[in-house]
Amino acid sequence: MPLLGLGTWQARGRSAVEAVRQALDVGYRHVDTATMYGNERQVGQAVAESGVPRAAIFVTTKLPQGNAGRERETLAESLDQLGVDYVDLWLIHWPPDGRARPDVWERLLELQAEGLARDVGVSNYSLRQIDELEAATGRLPAVNQIEWSPALFDPAVLEGHRRRGVQLEGYSPLRATNLHDPRLAQIAEERGVTPAQVVLRWHVEHRIVAIPKSTNAARIAENAAIFDFELTPAEVERLDRR
Ligand code: A2P
Repeated sequence: MPLLGLGTWQARGRSAVEAVRQALDVGYRHVDTATMYGNERQVGQAVAESGVPRAAIFVTTKLPQGNAGRERETLAESLDQLGVDYVDLWLIHWPPDGRARPDVWERLLELQAEGLARDVGVSNYSLRQIDELEAATGRLPAVNQIEWSPALFDPAVLEGHRRRGVQLEGYSPLRATNLHDPRLAQIAEERGVTPAQVVLRWHVEHRIVAIPKSTNAARIAENAAIFDFELTPAEVERLDRR
């Protein structure tokens, strides 16, 4: 799973197609969508038009909590909209009605076994809810996608995922961050990068998947240009301290 992906929440219509095209053009190989975003068709169109082989792109989509009980139909609809015959990752978008729902998880595992999703996981789950899924089915989610950023850093949550072998994927890496924070500004200036790039690189240093959302071509490119510099352990730790 590439550590950097394009988030597409709130990207709609032509601008969604263009954002995903732009991202694939500048080297992203990971796109995150969801049934709830209403843009799977646009994401699929961009993937098809990009000329990048399907197998080279990591595509994630998500089951809306209200579609619990209609997993098969929902995934079939996602595949149809995306124009693909499998997704790389399929997530339960939110715990349905706030509950872990091992029965829903069981059906995701069945559809994975049929090859329609290479991997399955959850989003917005607590570690306790993840443990409930494992206790009931013997299977842990590959990924938990939760809101994450330096401002939300919680070492116990990170360590809890790591100990279980569940990949932590962070959404909204920039939204909750004060990009004018002096610590960020100083590190950015020293490195000759932007504060947003420092935030995204901080995720990479922690091996946390980040999916910044942008529909702006310059910012899409900026957010991907984080693999030619590093942060020192001391810098990472400085950003960890909220
Ligand atoms: P835009 O789409 O106009 O680029 P998040 O992924 O954390 O939810 O953040 C998304 C928000 O941050 C969007 O409003 C997006 O606006 C903005 N954004 C994305 N990339 C950057 C960047 N490199 N610098 C500043 N703002 C950004």
